[in-house]
Amino acid sequence: MNMKIIVTGGAGFIGSNFVRYVGRERPDWQIVVYDKLTYAGNRLNIAGLSEDRVKLVVADICDEASIDAAVADCDAVVHFAAESHNDNSLHSPRPFIDTNIVGTYQILQAVRKHGKRLHHISTDEVYGDLALDDPAKFNPETPYNPSSPYSSTKASSDLLVRAWVRSFGIQATISNCSNNYGPYQHVEKFIPRQITEILEGRRPKLYGTGENVRDWIHTEDHSSGVLTILENGKNGETYLIGADGERNNKDVIELILEIMGKDPHDYEHVEDRPGHDLRYAIDASKLYGELGWRPKYTDFRAGLSETIDWYKQNSDWWQPQKDSTEAKYQEIGR
Ligand code: NAD
Ligand code: DAU
Repeated sequence: MNMKIIVTGGAGFIGSNFVRYVGRERPDWQIVVYDKLTYAGNRLNIAGLSEDRVKLVVADICDEASIDAAVADCDAVVHFAAESHNDNSLHSPRPFIDTNIVGTYQILQAVRKHGKRLHHISTDEVYGDLALDDPAKFNPETPYNPSSPYSSTKASSDLLVRAWVRSFGIQATISNCSNNYGPYQHVEKFIPRQITEILEGRRPKLYGTGENVRDWIHTEDHSSGVLTILENGKNGETYLIGADGERNNKDVIELILEIMGKDPHDYEHVEDRPGHDLRYAIDASKLYGELGWRPKYTDFRAGLSETIDWYKQNSDWWQPQKDSTEAKYQEIGR
């Protein structure tokens, strides 16, 4: 079926990778990128896509009139827009309340009014964290237990979506994904920060002991999971997206250094993040079993090498963000 979809946050990291993915996989679809272009959004992330098929609307999801008009004129909304960085949320939580909670509320009201389909993008962080030796992983029945201002606002947004499904009968699905890596990720985030520190001739920065585990997935696999759920997911259901990519931060930094031809132990230990979640791990068996989804990037080293090459070849893209990002880290001592 031909569709016209709105991708909120489509000029950010994961949203823009999704727009490119859908552009390739569904050549008949129209895509409206609805994005406020905050510090994390970038027009360049969707540059080169056909202007007949991909249109950019620069607006805030909290703006009731703008989001209402956009939703009225589409078939479905895929909602990526968010304040997404934990460290920022610890320093300055207010924009997280506005965008992640109030913005999601405005989208819910618009899809309710116009009877449109919604897919809401969320995170595994809503479930809190796991012990390193816990045999269990997060699954759709795991109780919510968020730790940070970021994850608590994402948890709030998920609960709003569930309430609008039950109380108002909107057509919506939710996905909670683990840590993404790949091209176009802002240099504030762990993997691109370390790659670009090395490219700038500085040492990578490891928070605390580095035993914290993240469950890495390539952003292309996140995109294929979201498209699968958008097309085939059951109304009202939550799906977890993950690719069995658990690794601790110390191992990831050492691997980046090794791939980049440096001494794997040449990194700095910096102050730990307050409230730092210890481990995330996703059980994606519902998405595998019910919808037949499979990840393609199962070799983390190969995906990481490709990502490192992308940052090497695209310094024009990341250089303008780098100094201001490191200045922010300097302020908070990390
Ligand atoms: P990002 O910070 O790179 O991009 C966010 C985008 O949203 C930017 O383009 C920004 O301009 C836009 N935006 C922010 N506030 C807005 C507003 N009020 N109105 C309109 N647009 C606004 O984030 P990301 O890492 O690509 O994450 C995208 C989504 O995926 C988020 O919902 C996040 O919670 C979720 N998620 C991220 C990860 C990850 O590893 N990065 C993992 C799981 C889920
Ligand atoms: O799990 C999904 C979440 O993953 C998403 O919901 C978030 O939007 C996304 O930002 C990410 O959150 P994290 O806090 O896990 O990602 P971040 O890249 O900030 O950090 C990853 C790990 O690396 C974390 O344990 C903190 C650590 N870290 C981070 C930075 C920036 C370092 O050791 N050094 C660093 O310089």
